[in-house]
Amino acid sequence: MPSLEERTDVVTGAASGIGAATVAALAAAGAHVIAADLAWDDEEPPDRVERVRLDVTDAAQWRELAARLAARDDARGLHGLVNAAGITRRARLHDATVDDFQQAFAVNAVGPALGIQALAPLLRDGGSIVNVGSAAGVMAHYGIAYGASKWALRGITKTAAMELGPRGIRVNLVSPGFIETPMTASAPDAFRAVNLEASPLGRTGRVDEVAAVIVTLLSSDASFVTGAEIAVDGGLTGHGGGLPIARAMGSAHPQE
Ligand code: NAI
Repeated sequence: MPSLEERTDVVTGAASGIGAATVAALAAAGAHVIAADLAWDDEEPPDRVERVRLDVTDAAQWRELAARLAARDDARGLHGLVNAAGITRRARLHDATVDDFQQAFAVNAVGPALGIQALAPLLRDGGSIVNVGSAAGVMAHYGIAYGASKWALRGITKTAAMELGPRGIRVNLVSPGFIETPMTASAPDAFRAVNLEASPLGRTGRVDEVAAVIVTLLSSDASFVTGAEIAVDGGLTGHGGGLPIARAMGSAHPQE
């Protein structure tokens, strides 16, 4: 894990799952983290972590956060933004409502765009933004509103990378597959089973496995990486449909 001392990063969706693991990984690497989510319990935050309430769909709240950060007498400035807040919508083509589409797009696509608009002006040159997409954003997905919102986030990521490149600010996307979090705890059993079946690694992922890639993209270890999409999905999307064909053709390993 690269040392991230002397940096400050904002993470959304920070109270749970991938966002919470990212906060923990950043703090462990020495960063000061502004952890943003809709709500927090009264527990004291760990060292180097500051908690703020933020609804990512609300431009005014983003502006207020930016103003508070700008007003600080903090020589470190702001180094990174991780847009991890997200919601799922599992209705299929014929059942998805306008609300499903609007909510999914508001949180998963517009939210990260608003965050980039609000905080990019505060990012130091050489800063880094990581958006959390999904395997559902690189293939057809049964939950149409969720999948489409994650496809949209890919476009937002690439446009932001293009626009902010001249300032040396990098913008990348991490696309997780099935990761064990509260979000996937509510997934239908069949969805879990088929994801395992469709992944070459044959297991679900852990939040720390996603956080480690996010932290690397934030760090100078990824100093020439921008506009990129990194799958963290156990190979789910990498085989492009080849896995069931290979299985049908038998084992590639004579000893198996
Ligand atoms: P989670 O449900 O554990 O955490 C999501 C967090 O986002 C929650 O703390 C929630 O309060 C927060 N949030 C929701 N709406 C918000 C809003 N309007 N403003 C601020 N915060 C808000 O979910 P998980 O699994 O950790 O997901 C994190 C990201 O990873 C999401 O963008 C999700 O779409 C993505 N992802 C997750 C996968 C998984 O298998 N768990 C797979 C692919 C992508």
